[in-house]
Amino acid sequence: MKLLITGGAGFIGSHLCDKYTQEGHSVICLDNFMSGNLVNVRHLLDYRNFKLIKGDIRDFDLLERLMRDVEVVFNLAAQIHVDRSSVEPRLTYDINVMGTQNILEVARLHDVRKVIHASTSEVYGSSLYYPMDEKHPLNAPHPYGASKIAADRMCYAYIQTYGMNIAIARLFNVFGPRQRDIGYGGVISIFTRRVLSGMPPMIYGDGKQTRDYTYIDDAVKAYDLILKHDEPITEPVNFGSGKEVSIIDLADKIIDYCGKTGDVKPVHVASRQGEVKRLIADASRARQLLGWQPKYKLDKGLREFVQWYRNYGFEERIKIE
Ligand SMILES: NC(=O)c1ccc[n+]([C@@H]2O[C@H](COP(=O)([O-])OP(=O)(O)OC[C@H]3O[C@@H](n4cnc5c(N)ncnc54)[C@H](O)[C@@H]3O)[C@@H](O)[C@H]2O)c1
Repeated sequence: MKLLITGGAGFIGSHLCDKYTQEGHSVICLDNFMSGNLVNVRHLLDYRNFKLIKGDIRDFDLLERLMRDVEVVFNLAAQIHVDRSSVEPRLTYDINVMGTQNILEVARLHDVRKVIHASTSEVYGSSLYYPMDEKHPLNAPHPYGASKIAADRMCYAYIQTYGMNIAIARLFNVFGPRQRDIGYGGVISIFTRRVLSGMPPMIYGDGKQTRDYTYIDDAVKAYDLILKHDEPITEPVNFGSGKEVSIIDLADKIIDYCGKTGDVKPVHVASRQGEVKRLIADASRARQLLGWQPKYKLDKGLREFVQWYRNYGFEERIKIE
């Protein structure tokens, strides 16, 4: 198969690049290196079936050229950070909404067989009921979530209007190797970096806010099951463990796995405006439709992640200018 993976030099996208390049598919990795890292994909540059393109999903003409005989697009390119979306809402909407519109439109023009779009649990906002299924209202209180809602609805409209095969994957917080704290980051990478450096994790508010974490291997499996599913998947699908963990418990676990118990203690700072209080997945649709079941327990994933961070997390980020 010929695949285009946008955001392929990022955390999740690079794991997809690994899998499909090593399986022998022809992979085009498109990334503008806004948060992507050459370190994540440089080992793939020796493969003849892997092509790295520095470019932007906001560049329609580039997409037209790249997608001419592409069969499947994984659309992961995005400005993904909630805090950054409040500081730079326009950039966030430009990439996440208009960039996705470009992908969908070029996919339509070139009869791309399948588009797999990376949505997120952040579209839901705080849980109105638990666990959250795909019918939960879309109440995201921040520009990142709003941009992802818009992109989801665009995918849905392309499915309904043109009969396109577009799958909308809503993963709950993903973590694992290659997720680095680069100023903005996932909470697990931010805490791990701080604790390994002997600094306390900073907790917004009381730390009782909860999230549902998915290890990267389970996330890759989710995308792969969607890829291999023969029938079109016309409704969004949640992927999450169905287990919530509070930020305060998460901080304690990370301190423990970093071997810093007694040395480092979390500190509390003012809560963040618009922060989602609880997120817990109901992933029944993923289980019934695709047979997806997360294999990694949070503690096993955290231990492996801390080990990875010790070895590689502090490596210099390489951007292509
Ligand atoms: N990490 C999570 O917990 C999580 C959960 C659910 C959904 N997602 C979604 O998965 C996708 C990947 O997230 P990630 O965690 O790997 O983040 P990431 O920031 O590591 O990856 C995003 C990649 O997109 C690239 N990019 C940004 N704007 C671009 C543009 N205009 N053109 C081309 N490339 C661009 C970045 O450089 C980066 O490499 C995102 O769409 C995100 O919304 C992530």
